[in-house]
Amino acid sequence: MLLQVLGTAAGGGLPQWNCACPSCTGARAHPHRRRRHASLALRADEGRWYLVNATPDIGDQIEDNEALRPGPGPRESPVAGVVLTDAELDHTLGIARLREADGFDILATPPVRDALLGRLRLGEVLAPYTRIEWRALGRQAEPLDKNGTVEMAAVPVSAKKPRYAVGTGSDEPTWVVALRLRDTATGRSLLYAPALAEWTDDFQDAVEEADCVIVDGTFWDDDEPVRTGISAKTATGMGHLPIAGPNGTARRLSGLRARCLYTHLNNTNPLGDPEAREHALLDGWGLEVAADRMVIEL
Ligand code: MLT
Ligand code: MN
Ligand code: ZN
Repeated sequence: MLLQVLGTAAGGGLPQWNCACPSCTGARAHPHRRRRHASLALRADEGRWYLVNATPDIGDQIEDNEALRPGPGPRESPVAGVVLTDAELDHTLGIARLREADGFDILATPPVRDALLGRLRLGEVLAPYTRIEWRALGRQAEPLDKNGTVEMAAVPVSAKKPRYAVGTGSDEPTWVVALRLRDTATGRSLLYAPALAEWTDDFQDAVEEADCVIVDGTFWDDDEPVRTGISAKTATGMGHLPIAGPNGTARRLSGLRARCLYTHLNNTNPLGDPEAREHALLDGWGLEVAADRMVIEL
């Protein structure tokens, strides 16, 4: 199974257009610190790729990765579809940018599909441009593509709704899911969880089974959003378990047999600065930060 990391930042990216904080300013001055919105590309077959989440950077993310560029036919794209972990705007705004396609697949859980159709009205808006094939994403592992080289299953994570959908839809914990992706030939698997509000027993089972885990690294610690003045809520209150601290994800991930990497870094996260001392702490725990353009083979 071949994966390409297309981006590793939380909503806003790094730098964020309206932000002059030290991290965003640092990323403007040092382009290697820039991070695009969190996304992955997953190869289902020779010349057939699925994007995991469709970010506002989707056009550049496709253009910058040779394997995702069109050809040899004039309108032949290797991008077959999009898999969604949730309905948040940073993971779905890119869908409208795919409207030049004849058609593409979107794999989503029922509450995510309903939010995109009912609240964002993407079905109505995009119908005059392209044909979207909606495919259900559930707990049962299913082949991602015809040839069956990759199987995918959703692990329900939480009922956290995007702000535009608060008060609508069900309260199922399938608003936000982690994806379990398994190569049927090698048996090796990836667990991708860019938004993690709760560490459930099912999630614990999934991390124990995985060979590689890419997980929510939005905030370093629980107080970070309050301390930096971006929110009155803590990290946990915003639906993102922090990395460090007593309810942090690091202590649960460190010691697993899987390779573990953090993604979806907010611009307040000190890990956005390559010189930050937090990198040494993470290293000591045996954990990594994912980087844009990283290639992972499983
Ligand atoms: C999140 O990850 O919590 C959301 O993407 C935040 C947002 O962009 O509103
Ligand atoms: Mn987000
Ligand atoms: Zn900033």
